[in-house]
Amino acid sequence: MELKPLRFIGEPIEVLFDRPPALEKKPDCPNGFVWRGQTHRVVEELAAWVDYTRRGRMARNMSPRHAAAAAARGIRLSIQMRGAFMSRPKVIIYGSVSLDGRLTLAPDVVLLFGDKRWDAIAAPSHVYEWLMFTHKPQALLEGSNSLVSRHSIPDPLPPVTGDPGELYQDFLPEAVIHHPAHYIWFTVVDSRGRVRWFYTGEPGKEAPGAEGQHLLVLVARHTPAEYLAYLQRENVPYLVAGEERVDLRLALEKLASQLGVRCVLSTSPGKLGGALVRAGLVDEVNVEFFPAIIGGTETPTLFESPDLQADEWPTRLRLLEAQVQAEGRVWLRYEVVREGRRAG
Ligand SMILES: NC(=O)c1ccc[n+]([C@@H]2O[C@H](COP(=O)([O-])OP(=O)(O)OC[C@H]3O[C@@H](n4cnc5c(N)ncnc54)[C@H](OP(=O)(O)O)[C@@H]3O)[C@@H](O)[C@H]2O)c1
Repeated sequence: MELKPLRFIGEPIEVLFDRPPALEKKPDCPNGFVWRGQTHRVVEELAAWVDYTRRGRMARNMSPRHAAAAAARGIRLSIQMRGAFMSRPKVIIYGSVSLDGRLTLAPDVVLLFGDKRWDAIAAPSHVYEWLMFTHKPQALLEGSNSLVSRHSIPDPLPPVTGDPGELYQDFLPEAVIHHPAHYIWFTVVDSRGRVRWFYTGEPGKEAPGAEGQHLLVLVARHTPAEYLAYLQRENVPYLVAGEERVDLRLALEKLASQLGVRCVLSTSPGKLGGALVRAGLVDEVNVEFFPAIIGGTETPTLFESPDLQADEWPTRLRLLEAQVQAEGRVWLRYEVVREGRRAG
């Protein structure tokens, strides 16, 4: 990752804490901050110090000698940070899986279309609602295989007339992004342009029970122009990030900078989750295990990704919470441990 040196000395910033700090007057390093309207997340704390200088009436309560000692011990207001900042949203991953980490029953079973065997073993739970309520994400993030079977052949689309180059700009229609009823993006990674949409969030095309949710597609420069033209006809916003596939980091940065997204909840913990983890883009992982073993050799599983290279390390996690739930389910909640400058 290329690091750009930035100086914030004397600049006003709004600090962001994922959880309220335990010590209000002496908070730990924040999880992020807003600077000039852009949200940055803190990757790593390299140095911190606290300003013990008293101000206003409080300053007059100290003897000059004590005030000088306090000022020398501390430094400027609250906390100063040096290091790598990222301007991407917080990313949380959630999945409900069998004990062996299977996301579905067999390679081509897309659960969106329903499967009575899955319904019988994976009882409904409240974890998704808890995550929505707690983190209040501005975007959901899904993989294309969660919407269409990985071997499905999409319906052909009409050829593009005119300059296809113009389609490879981000498409963010004002009326959609500033719609007063909008509250969350249903974001889908689809570099190959495979998904044909029924529910887009447009009037008359709202997914049942998901009013205020609008479709947003992440595409790449290799996405067929016919697909981009199709999205424009359907008034579906899209962001172009990456060449052959979606550059997930760039896409997340665009979500933050262009649409003000500060938190993303991805409910695709398989291949998309794996790609996000390998790119160092995950902050929190929530997995609910239900008591069944599905097995298989090609059945989608948690965090599928390229095998680790000799110089790569597993992604380390820190347990935040473990809950045994009804019907033998276990919910594990972890945060990702940021190690050195490698992390994103
Ligand atoms: N139990 C659960 O909680 C749960 C949740 C979700 C889904 N599911 C089930 O899991 C199955 C689908 O999961 P899946 O793991 O096969 O696929 P998936 O995560 O739904 O889809 C793969 C996604 O990852 C993207 N991707 C992969 N590698 C990438 C990379 N290096 N850079 C950028 N993008 C990358 C693909 O992009 P492109 O499209 O651009 O190639 C695609 O959008 C379905 O059966 C579904 O029903 C279960």
